[in-house]
Parts: sequence; structure tokens; C-alpha cells
Amino acid sequence: MKAIHAGLLGIGTVGGGTWDVLNRNAGEIRRRAGRAIRIARVADKDVKKARRLVDGKAQVTGSAWDVVRAPDIDIVIELIGGTGIARDLVLEAIANGKHVVTANKALLAKHGNRIFAAAQKKGVMVAFEASVGGGIPIIKALREGLAANRIEWIAGIINGTSNFILSEMRDKGVAFDVALADAQARGFAETDPTFDIEGIDAAHKLTILSALAFGIPMQFARVYTEGISKLTQQDIGYAEELGYRIKLLGITRRAAKGIELRVHPTLVPTRRLIANVEGVMNAILVKGDAVGPTLYYGAGAGGQPTASAVVADLVDVTRLITADPGHRVPHLAFQPDQLSATPVLPMGEVQTSYYLRLHVLDKPGVLARITRILADSRISIEAMVQKEPAAGEKRVDIVMLTHLAIEKNVNAALARIEKLPTVVGKVTRIRVEELL
Ligand code: HSE
Repeated sequence: MKAIHAGLLGIGTVGGGTWDVLNRNAGEIRRRAGRAIRIARVADKDVKKARRLVDGKAQVTGSAWDVVRAPDIDIVIELIGGTGIARDLVLEAIANGKHVVTANKALLAKHGNRIFAAAQKKGVMVAFEASVGGGIPIIKALREGLAANRIEWIAGIINGTSNFILSEMRDKGVAFDVALADAQARGFAETDPTFDIEGIDAAHKLTILSALAFGIPMQFARVYTEGISKLTQQDIGYAEELGYRIKLLGITRRAAKGIELRVHPTLVPTRRLIANVEGVMNAILVKGDAVGPTLYYGAGAGGQPTASAVVADLVDVTRLITADPGHRVPHLAFQPDQLSATPVLPMGEVQTSYYLRLHVLDKPGVLARITRILADSRISIEAMVQKEPAAGEKRVDIVMLTHLAIEKNVNAALARIEKLPTVVGKVTRIRVEELL
């Protein structure tokens, strides 16, 4: 059978990895796909570098438009990233009847609804395994492997850079900036690293996971997003003493009144497997009603791991290229006319437990006033520790863990507590998830 011709847009870290894997494993891939898959054209703004990498084995151009319009191309691999030119190129590829494989989580989180509608109309596939969790086949698991289940919740470490930073801070006592620079040097971080450390990249990925799990449209604008840039060594240490590890989690849950969609640092019991996922590794915990909890673990970033997902998509698309579009797996796992309008729950309505750290004057009655405010807001304390003050120090840290409470009640209580003259500065609040 004639080889499938792919056009590669962007031959950077992931594009270069894709080129390597596809060539190195060409024999195995052909045996799996039933025909050869060849990158016939490559577009990159650095034409010289691209020519050097492909070494005469593909046509190289500086214009991605040439590739998305080329008649000999069956599948466009979009690895440019971002939501500007990448969006226009993907839509143009679809308009030209090309199938698309992309690793672009930001693009799908923000414009996925439009892109999938265009692909549906045109009868082409848009495959996006590499958009979440690098090489972990989590999209495949959600779209196909778990299709019997009513998904209850997902909690994932889905940003390698922030997980790497947290691991380095905890293990080696390395400062935040040093760990970030290291992640950048290793090629994990986004072009704009604030996307990693402020939770935006995780929010993009969570948007995709949530849509697949619950059969809802992509709703990136509704994700509550809080990053790791304000975390201190002190809280990482106190959490450890209490038997917890702090992870940046993306959490989406089917609650009674809507779907939770939130990214934030989270205390997770150290004995959970997911709490022990370190460095750039990702892990996604999915709870289905029939299967129970399932955990998917692997490298969440980097050239070769992400290429593993890109090439798996190429194989998938190749196998289904001649299938009737109605027989393909729907883009968002559920049939497009079956998407649900279940609302995303506002963060104030979310119910979870909390770690609170208060810096207070060490005087009689201080704690009584604080606990009274918490009780007024129906927040019940599960555990509390007063830390030993340094010699000569009149102020102490009090660390509390609460039972389940409603976020808006916690917000109201903290606002009142912070006004007390005996409480110094802001209260540190980190959410806690038992993940059972
Ligand atoms: N910047 C991302 C991360 C790359 O650190 O996980 C993979 O999406």
C-alpha cells in the first residue's frame, strides 16, 4: 500500500523527536499501521537547521502554509504551539481535507470546540494524544479504555516543569528560580514559563481531560487556576511533617451541582502513589465507577516521550484513514450531538479540605478567637499544631488541617481572621485532597 505522507510543522524538541522515532522505528510502525508513514515535508522558520536534521530525506520550507496546502500531504503534524498562527494553520489544513495530529494543548483548550466542529464537518480526524501527559496514553485511555465508566473524577500531575521544581525544592532545598532555570535548560518548560509555574499549562490540559471525561465542551475560561510561585519551603516542610506532599494538581470532578475544574497546589497524603511522582514525570489518577481508581504514569514532557504520543496518533490516523467517519472514535469521546451542558461549578462552591498556616502573636486568647471564626463559618478543624517559636520570637506559626468545607465559607473566615490584630499578615491556604 502507498505510504502515508505527513507534513511536519515545527522541528524543534518534539518535532525533532518525532522525526527520530518515526525513522528509527519505521519497520515496527509499518507492521502496526499496515503501511509506511513518511514525513515528506517539513516547515520550520529555521530552514537551515531543518535541512540539517532531515538530511535530504524530506522537502524543507520556511512556509508552513505550503505544507498545509500541499496536495501530496495526508496528515499535518502541528508542533508549532501557541494559539495564533497554529490555529490558522490547523483550520487551513482541515479545510484542505488533511487529518491533523497536534500536541498543542493551548490551542485545543481555547479553540478545540471550533476545530473539532470544522473537522467533523470535513470528515477528518484531529488526534491529540501528545497534548496531555507527554508520552502517557491518557487520551486513549479516556476515549476508549474507560468507555464503560461513568467517570467520577480525575486528579493529575500534568505539568512536568512545576513538578520538577517542587521535587527539587523538597529534595535538595534548591531555590525556586534555580529549579526553574534547570527545567528550562532541559527543554521541559513552555516558551513562556509562567504558563508552567502559574498553572496555565496544567489548566489547558485539564480542560481537555475534563471534556473527554464528562462529555462537555472545552471550557478553559472556567478553570480556577493557581500556580506554585507563592509556595514556600516552610509549607513544603510543614506538609511533610503532617504526612502530606504538595503537588500542583489539575482536578476535575463530577459534583452534585456541576463539574469542578481547578488547578492549584494540593496537599496529598504521602502514602498515595501519586504523591511519589517526582521530577518531570506526570501521573493522572482517574476514578471510574466500574473500574475504581486507575493511575497513568510516565514522562510528561521532552522530545522522545512526546514523540511517542505523536507517532501513536499517526498510526491511529493511518489505520482509520479509509474508515467511514461515523465509525471513528469521536474527538471528545462522546458523540458530538451528545455533549452535555452540565455547568462548571464556581470555585466558591467547591468543597474540599484545607491546610491553613497562620502567623500569630503568642498570647492568651489568640487561638480562641481564630477557632470561633472558623466555627461561625462551619469549618471544623481536623488537626492543629503550634510550632515552637525561635528564641526570643514573640510570633508563632499555627498550622491547621480542616475537615471538608465550602470554599466560599473558608474565604469569608480567612478575611475575618486576617483582620484580627493578633494575626500577622496573610493566612496561607492550600487545599488538601485525600484522593480516595
Ligand atoms: N511545559 C510542559 C510541562 C511541557 O512542563 O509539562 C509538556 O506539555
